[in-house]
Amino acid sequence: MPMSWRLVRTSGGVALAIALTAGLVAGATGQTGRGPDTVALDLGRPGPPIAPTLFGVFFEDINFAADGGLYPERVKNRSFEFTEPLSGWRKPWRPEADGELVVLTEGGLNANNPHYLRLRVHTPGRGFGVVNAGFRGMGVEAGAEYVLSAYVRAHPGGPRFLSARLTGDRGKPLAESTLAGFDGAWKRYETTLRPEATHARAELEIAANEAGEIDLDMVSLFPRETWKSRPNGLRKDLVQLLADMKPGFVRFPGGCIVEGRRLELRYDWKKTVGDVSERKLLVNRWNDEFAHRPAPDYFQSFGLGFFEYFQLAEDIGASPLPIVNCGMACQFNSGETEALDKLDPYIQDALDLIDFANGPADGRWGRLRAQMGHPAPFNLRMIGIGNEQWGPRYVARYERFATALKKAHPEIALVASSGPGAAGPMFDYLWTNLRRLSADVVDEHYYMPPAWFLANAHRYDGYDRSGPKVLAGEYAAQTSGQAQPDNRNNWEGALAEAAFMTGLERNADVVTMASYAPLLAHVDAWQWTPNLIWFDNLRSYGTPNYHVQKMYATNQGTHVLPHAVNGSEKNAQDGLYTSASVDQRSSELIFKAVNATPAARKVRVVVKGTASLRGEGRLLVLASGDLNAENSLDQPTRLAPVERTVAPSSSGFDLTLDAQSFTVLRVKYSR
Ligand code: AHR
Repeated sequence: MPMSWRLVRTSGGVALAIALTAGLVAGATGQTGRGPDTVALDLGRPGPPIAPTLFGVFFEDINFAADGGLYPERVKNRSFEFTEPLSGWRKPWRPEADGELVVLTEGGLNANNPHYLRLRVHTPGRGFGVVNAGFRGMGVEAGAEYVLSAYVRAHPGGPRFLSARLTGDRGKPLAESTLAGFDGAWKRYETTLRPEATHARAELEIAANEAGEIDLDMVSLFPRETWKSRPNGLRKDLVQLLADMKPGFVRFPGGCIVEGRRLELRYDWKKTVGDVSERKLLVNRWNDEFAHRPAPDYFQSFGLGFFEYFQLAEDIGASPLPIVNCGMACQFNSGETEALDKLDPYIQDALDLIDFANGPADGRWGRLRAQMGHPAPFNLRMIGIGNEQWGPRYVARYERFATALKKAHPEIALVASSGPGAAGPMFDYLWTNLRRLSADVVDEHYYMPPAWFLANAHRYDGYDRSGPKVLAGEYAAQTSGQAQPDNRNNWEGALAEAAFMTGLERNADVVTMASYAPLLAHVDAWQWTPNLIWFDNLRSYGTPNYHVQKMYATNQGTHVLPHAVNGSEKNAQDGLYTSASVDQRSSELIFKAVNATPAARKVRVVVKGTASLRGEGRLLVLASGDLNAENSLDQPTRLAPVERTVAPSSSGFDLTLDAQSFTVLRVKYSR
């Protein structure tokens, strides 16, 4: 009988592990007093290859992950296109200055960005203008450079310059500069602001000091220092955290935002590429999805669009996995579905996306990619058709997409949805049909309690080896309940995920991709929890779950190494979860073990085969006796892996696994 463990928290925060099912073998109490568990590995018998894509990341613009997060624009509603055009903007408080803020569309910047702001200055005083408070404030650092830019159009007799300042507490100026030289046509102007002090909640003020009218649009404050110093680039510390994971793929741009609540609100990649001033803003579907976390100021500027996603994937060495809308709005919302005979434009969007990513630089969409600065192809190899769709309507639409895409691009693998659940009739229906339709990859999502993850480490052992591959595209242990606001990124959840992931790795011949979800969250602006990485306007940290993901992705072998634990092929026994692989490029054995019990545990790793181990083993250990333990902005590495070494015994290694720990052992071998 399979043994599973449930992690529980006591009121005092002391961890216990209790067996959920019977079948404990005598002496297998999980205490240090017991004899060692024996793991037998045969280096001469490597198993199936592990896809380089196995451990990746899933990016969705939820929790202010894009605007206000990875996309480091400091100005919220820079284009005055929010439903409330002055959302995020206010007049500075200066009693002696008088004027009006007027939002107009006549003669706007372009058709996709029609609204703009007219400053009508009656009495300039010490400056009449506007203040933008950013995304829960603006993070600025002392001495760093911020590029202030705006499209400006002057009027005869109106202000000839605009003064700009960053302000901190009680309006204290942190940096000042001016924009000048305007004429009667829309043009972009820029200057640099260098704050003299660091502030997490600065504000930007732009004011005219002369009476009359002047027009403004696309008011932007952007850090000069971005990832790889790119203009319109990404936030450095957040990309660094992703790059450090060495993810095998990036799935983007969602999630439910691909679907939209209604079809007209779906994610349309074509509106996210080209000049940023021409990208058409869209409400974010997470703005008021949860009554307990409303965010009426949540929109998508698409400054982070499909070009930037492809570039991000390339930068961090990951394969891009874009998801396209399949003609269905979110089935948790309207479920609006395009008629089958009207599906062609959606399919064409997918075909054009392949052209944008891979087509020649003088082709229709490849030309735009080249104009944006990337003449070489992005090496797109897979596309997801729909996000979390289900039912016969999805199967019919997937089939249409698959027929057209496979005909035009047999080289592109198609990823299909198995719905929002880990099992059940809906899930089985989809799998049956997707197998019939020879889908390349089926995307599974599971947001389940930690106990489920512990009990499902063998989930993929019995999967059909000849059917579609699996993308475990969204999973995370929910310590309180799915998407509950009190879910925690604590060690309880992370440890359970680590145990579960041994099963992903052991079954790498079936599971070719897996990613935690969601990825990013602003501590002051989130809608969903738990999340892999949290940030504020200046700082960021990886959760214990992040370290688990990173330990897997950065310690991935080239081939699975089948092994026996205590003489059995069950690799999840009595609170011990194991996985092994070899890296044939570096000639290394990589052994992973999760001890989910509250006591240290001895494990004897016996290595057989013609190869011999060379030198000591390097251990990476992530452990805590406190299942409630979390990282935070103030204690970002309270839980982080520590390195150790271990000397080999004659036949392998004698390891002592810490209580409630995840351990990776790496050791070189030679033949
Ligand atoms: O990750 C959050 C959401 O969970 C995703 O948008 C959706 O695919 C799933 O329901």
